[in-house]
Amino acid sequence: MSTTTHIIDSPALENGIEIHGPLPGPKAAAHIERDEKVTSNCLGRVYPLVPERGEGCFLIDVDGNRFLDFFAGIAVCATGHSHPAVVKAVQEQVARLIHAGGSDVYSPGYAELCEKLVALAPKGSYGDGWQVFLTNSGTEAVEGALKLARYHTGRQRIIGFRGGFHGRTMGALSVTASKAIQRRGFGPLLSGVVHLTFPNKSHRPKDMDETTWGRQMAARQFAEIFDTTTPPEEVAAILVEPIQGEGGYVVPPDGFFQEIREICDRHGILLIADEVQTGFGRTGKMFAVEHWHVQPDVICMAKGISSGVPVGGFMARSHLMQWPPAAHGSTWGGNPLGCAAALANIQIIESEDLMANTVEQGEYLMERFRELQDECDLLVDVRGLGLMIGLEVADKSTALDWMERCFYQGLLILTAGAKAIRLCPPLILSRAEAELGFQIMREVLLEMAQTKRVEVVGG
Ligand SMILES: Cc1ncc(COP(=O)(O)O)c(C=O)c1O
Repeated sequence: MSTTTHIIDSPALENGIEIHGPLPGPKAAAHIERDEKVTSNCLGRVYPLVPERGEGCFLIDVDGNRFLDFFAGIAVCATGHSHPAVVKAVQEQVARLIHAGGSDVYSPGYAELCEKLVALAPKGSYGDGWQVFLTNSGTEAVEGALKLARYHTGRQRIIGFRGGFHGRTMGALSVTASKAIQRRGFGPLLSGVVHLTFPNKSHRPKDMDETTWGRQMAARQFAEIFDTTTPPEEVAAILVEPIQGEGGYVVPPDGFFQEIREICDRHGILLIADEVQTGFGRTGKMFAVEHWHVQPDVICMAKGISSGVPVGGFMARSHLMQWPPAAHGSTWGGNPLGCAAALANIQIIESEDLMANTVEQGEYLMERFRELQDECDLLVDVRGLGLMIGLEVADKSTALDWMERCFYQGLLILTAGAKAIRLCPPLILSRAEAELGFQIMREVLLEMAQTKRVEVVGG
């Protein structure tokens, strides 16, 4: 419970942040009490927010408080909350047909969405087409991709990266290596999974150029495991996020993915890009691997694909997506509502040039945070691409404190990795909204630094 007074006004916005009293308000507090009696306590709610409505980059809670949303349901609401075109597409579809079963019949929207995804797939030198399987979530997309890789190669082993997050089901969890709490108590997981170090571009040795270092970070690690524990001819796939999400919005150096692609080609290993968090314009490209001009063999998708209606999928180069009918399936995967939402959502991303806006607002925000880094030593690293921005602070408690204090000022942000804040607002973010969010974060961090200084002086 907090009685914070609001520190930042938003004159540039017609409808800005509005916090009417202490948080949580009375209706939210009552709802939380009710919820906690019947919901699993593994749901790690980060602050006492009970949203009722969404409008663009804002969430309105049950007490009428209006929050600026810089996490968009964890990088989901790409076109903002309840974009009218997404709402219309879902409303029209729900009135026609809600479910038919995409594994058994030719469900509405399934082919149209797959055609669209194939058209968006990164173009590379391989020249073949793509085929798609639709799911309900990101973890299910990863699960299917791992099964396909084993089926196609007849090999068992999978290579992932420490800090990587791929989901919670047993297969995806076996490759996830982000936080021990996500794995503790659930073993044994899949055997044959090896984790390597994911390089952080910000940690490049000053005497080495980025591409050389990036290539070396891949080449050395793979050579070591291939020579010792993991014969390459037993490896089915390398599963990797182009930019680590849950692991702290870590951007790899140039050269890293190019080297991995070459290693895969040399040894007949499939490269699976987990674009669940990075896809659909989030980094300023439709898929983040495009930043490194690398064509993966398989791409996993979810989150930003539809701006909120559950739908995910994986697409693979056509000659790989060859397995017999019923080898894989899903009752709800590619549900008509998800397909309608995704088609409308992708259409908005393209027609409103949201990727250009993502680059513009992302660069602006990162520039502002770098100025703040010069001003405040609690902020130790600013990194990211597009509107996937990681802000690393001195320690975990600083990250949690920053997040919590921003909530009481009406700004929603999330932590990631060991000690970072992640920002992944809707791609429709305006300059005024970006500036308002930045100003709140700046005021809050400077206030925290001041308090720390007083504590230190006070001894
Ligand atoms: C990169 C990545 N892969 C997979 C997943 C799992 O997706 P879902 O939560 O939809 O199962 C996530 C979720 O955060 C993710 O960020």
